[in-house]
Amino acid sequence: MNTPDIDWESIGFNYVATDFNVRCTYKNGSWGKLRICDSPNINISIASSCLHYGQEAFEGIKAFRGHDGQIRIFRLEENAQRLQASCDGLVMPQVPTELFTEAVIQAVKLNERFIPPYESGATLYIRPLIIGVGHLLGVRPAAEYEFIVFTSPISSYFKTGFSATKAGILRGYDRSAPLGTGCYKVGGNYASGMRAGVRIHELGYSSIIYLDPKEKKYIDECGAANFFGIRGDTYITPKSRSILPSITNNSLMQLCRDFGWAVEQRPVPVDELSTFDEAASCGTAAVVCPISQIDDIDTGHSYIIAKDGRPGPKCTKLYNHLRDIQYGRTDDTHGWNTLI
Ligand code: PLP
Ligand code: COI
Repeated sequence: MNTPDIDWESIGFNYVATDFNVRCTYKNGSWGKLRICDSPNINISIASSCLHYGQEAFEGIKAFRGHDGQIRIFRLEENAQRLQASCDGLVMPQVPTELFTEAVIQAVKLNERFIPPYESGATLYIRPLIIGVGHLLGVRPAAEYEFIVFTSPISSYFKTGFSATKAGILRGYDRSAPLGTGCYKVGGNYASGMRAGVRIHELGYSSIIYLDPKEKKYIDECGAANFFGIRGDTYITPKSRSILPSITNNSLMQLCRDFGWAVEQRPVPVDELSTFDEAASCGTAAVVCPISQIDDIDTGHSYIIAKDGRPGPKCTKLYNHLRDIQYGRTDDTHGWNTLI
C-alpha cells in the first residue's frame, strides 16, 4: 500500500481528497446498488431540491487505526439511525442501516492508505450525506436522491487540541427554531449558524454557545457540538428539542455511569454555569473540548469555570477513556467499535 505524503499532525479539520467515494441512487421508490467513484465531483440538475430548499442531511463518523494496527469505526449503527431520523425530518427516504454500514465500511477499506498512523493522533473522518436531486422547481420533496460516503483524514478540530478555551453566548442569533430542525443533522442548521459562528471567532472565542430559541433561558449547544457541565460527581447536559442528539455525548453519559458518577439530562439554566467545576463541548469532530470561561457577550456577564485555564480532571478522564476505547487501548465493553 502506497502511503500518501501527508503531515498528519498539521492537517487540521480540512478536506483532503482520498482515492474513492461510495454512492447509491434512490429512484422510482427504491435504492439501487452501491457504486465506487474516483471523482470528488457530482453532476446534478441545477433544479435539485438540495441546492434550493436545503433538502439534505449528513453524518460525521471516525475510523481509527488502533495501537494493535486494527481499524475501528466508532458507533456506526447509531449514526445510521440518526441519519434515518434526519431523513424522516426532511421527508427523504431512509438509508437502510445495512446499506449505510456497507457503504461506510467500503469507503474506509477503499481509502485505507489514508487512515492516519496510530501515533499521529489523527483519524479518518467519514462524511455520509444524502441530497435531494432531479429537476424540481416547486417546494416539495424530491423524487430522487443521491447517498454518498466520502472520507478525509483529519487531525484536531480545534487548532489548540485538548486544552481549555473560551466560549461566548451571542443572544442575537439562533441556529434553529423551537420546533424546527435543530434535532436533525441537516445543512440548514449550519447555514443559519454561520453568521453567528463568524462573529464569535471575530470576537476571539473558539466557539459559540446557543441558548434555547424560545425563552433564551437555557443552554442549548455549543457550535457543532453538545455541551456538558460537571459539578462534583454529576455530569449535567441539556435536554432540548432544538439540539442534535450527540452520539459522543450519549457515549460520555454511559462512561459517567460506568465510573459511578450521576448523569442529569435536563434543561440547564444559563445561571447554572456559575456552579460548574468543569464544562466542555463534545462531538465527533470536537471529541471533548474543555471550556475555561463563558462570556454572555450581550449582558457583559462572565462565567469563569477553570480559574487556571486548564482542562479539569473529570473532562480529562472522560476524554482519555473515550480515546482509549476508540484506539482499542481498553475494553470496548459496550460494543461501540466496528472492527474492519
Ligand atoms: N451538535 C451539532 C450541531 C453537531 O454538528 C454535532 C456534530 O456532529 C454534535 C452536536 C455532536 O454530535 P456527535 O457526537 O454525534 O458527533
Ligand atoms: C461532527 O462532529 O462530526 C460534525 O459533523 C461537526 C462538523 C459540522 C464540523
